[in-house]
Amino acid sequence: MNIQAELRNRFRAALLAIDPAAGQFAEMVLPSQDAKFGDYQANCAMPLGKQLGRPPREIAQQLVAMLDLADICEPPEIAGPGFINLRLKQEFLIPQLQQMLSDETHLGVAPSAEPKTIVLDYSAPNVAKPMHVGHIRSTVIGAALYRVLKELGHRVISDNHIGDWGTQFGMIIYGYKHFVDEAALAKQPVAELSRLYRLVNQLVEYHAVSDYFLPSLEGKIDAQKSRIAVLKEDSNLDANERKRRLQAAENVLAELHAEEVDLKSKVAIVAENPELYSLAWQHTTVRSEILAETAALHAGDKTNRELWERFLPACLEANQRIYRRLGVTFDLSLGESFYEDRLTGVVADLTKHGLVTESDGAKCVFLAGIDAPFIVQKKDGAFLYATTDLATIQFRVEEWSPDAILYVVDHRQSLHFEQLFATARLWGYDKIELEHISFGTVLGEDGRPYKTRSGTAVGLDGLLDEAVERAYAIVSANDDARAEPLLSADERQQVAERVGIGAIKYADLAHNRTSDYVFSYDKMLAMQGNTAAYMQYSYARVSSIFAKGAVDVATLRKKGGALKLEQPAERALALSLLQLSEALERVATDYRPNHLTAYLFDLASKYSSFFENCPVLKAESDESRTSRLLLCDLTARTIAHGLHLLGIQTVERM
Ligand code: ARG
Repeated sequence: MNIQAELRNRFRAALLAIDPAAGQFAEMVLPSQDAKFGDYQANCAMPLGKQLGRPPREIAQQLVAMLDLADICEPPEIAGPGFINLRLKQEFLIPQLQQMLSDETHLGVAPSAEPKTIVLDYSAPNVAKPMHVGHIRSTVIGAALYRVLKELGHRVISDNHIGDWGTQFGMIIYGYKHFVDEAALAKQPVAELSRLYRLVNQLVEYHAVSDYFLPSLEGKIDAQKSRIAVLKEDSNLDANERKRRLQAAENVLAELHAEEVDLKSKVAIVAENPELYSLAWQHTTVRSEILAETAALHAGDKTNRELWERFLPACLEANQRIYRRLGVTFDLSLGESFYEDRLTGVVADLTKHGLVTESDGAKCVFLAGIDAPFIVQKKDGAFLYATTDLATIQFRVEEWSPDAILYVVDHRQSLHFEQLFATARLWGYDKIELEHISFGTVLGEDGRPYKTRSGTAVGLDGLLDEAVERAYAIVSANDDARAEPLLSADERQQVAERVGIGAIKYADLAHNRTSDYVFSYDKMLAMQGNTAAYMQYSYARVSSIFAKGAVDVATLRKKGGALKLEQPAERALALSLLQLSEALERVATDYRPNHLTAYLFDLASKYSSFFENCPVLKAESDESRTSRLLLCDLTARTIAHGLHLLGIQTVERM
């Protein structure tokens, strides 16, 4: 059962009886921050008092008189200006827990009151091009949302909208035509194709950076330096203000310099390698030729089409390897290419709806309140990312009539989605919830966007490898510290894989998705704090209690027993266990998996204090021992279930 939702229902009824416009205040029933104010708190009397022009305390009294809560709570208390404090009854908690204990698969999680059909668009890397950390974040967040939404009874369709039709294919086609090693391609297609991609990308970057990006950046650096010089001489400013502005300006300059170092290193890679350097100068038109190869592919050119068909499986396989390691699957992987033959129709239909304006030969949708036009067809006839995304909405609606389509994509694409959704609504898709589940950038310890060591696809594998290696060292050190080590080398490896991959996922999920976060192996692998390792350890600790007490879990579950919640720590743990449903509902409300990690962390802390305060194996009576063992087991199952929904595996020993 979702206790919070149930309490809100009861409050809603009472609120509506007082005032027909007061139903919304039921949302103000929240878990208490502090146990001394009870288990839940409702602050609705304050805004309602304001709305009705009556003293809040009086409203609170009226509410309490009308509330029908006797089966759930002790008589509510009114505190301060009109807070209503609720404490759940023991006679309510215990049967709820019993029910949770007997529900093997869902642990009492209440299905959503309004099941929806939801298309979830996540991961979506551009194939032929190495996946980057941002794609891991999208994959991990998307996969967690997928499981949580399904757990709540929604119909969810995951669709990996892979970029299999863009310029990066022009790049490998160009690479193939000029640089292929056929033998290598036959033997190790994935490796050879990524070599070709990297090589061509280096040539492109060399020219783009030295012809355009670097000069433009240097212009900015000069301008910034003059700004600083002017500030230094500015006698109109008071000393403090000048200092502040100078500091800000120096910070901008430092950013620009860091970018310059980045760009210069891209040029240097080529310039310092005679072979690459000479290739770069043999391929000065590489950029325009890549665009031409891409256009030819789209126009149906036979050779390019054949090459595309030949390369695609190997490109997909490279990503598949990462998905296998992450344990992620999709219901569908309809790439951009899937929509190719819809694009002409989309533009025609938008035109028919009067949405298209020509500007410099390009077909654009101009949107109120957004400066940049949404370009759906270029002057040369080429369609764009935007056109494909519109076709995709059309297709998804035809196929599933979803209530919602959610896009888990990094925040840099927010303008694109703003334009896409506005266009789709004008086009007639105004009944479905279209939402950009945006997330921040993964930063390195230097505060700049995180780069895998070599910045390549191998880099992502390497990222996972490094987490696993470090986890192995930690697991081994912990095990070696035991009087008698428990784990064989194989077990250590298996545990390390789960702890290492779990750490990366958990770090992605535990940070509020809209903020940037710093990727730090040390932090994510810490055994204490809000980390996967701590959660996995809390789980394993229960197993070790059972092992120590020679408790057979299957028998314990089958026999069950009475639950006693006499100690405050027992009661606090019980309440936390029963809040799983609420945590999941919160995740589904604003699509933030960090509500679930926060819940698990809270549960683990409640368990810790329970464990410190309430002897389990040495409990004072048999009944109390059984009751505590049942609480331990339920905690372990809840942690495992929560982690499973986040895509993280547990281990019995670590
Ligand atoms: N392929 C895109 C990228 O890597 C992300 C696609 C997201 N999904 C979508 N329907 N636009 O940046």
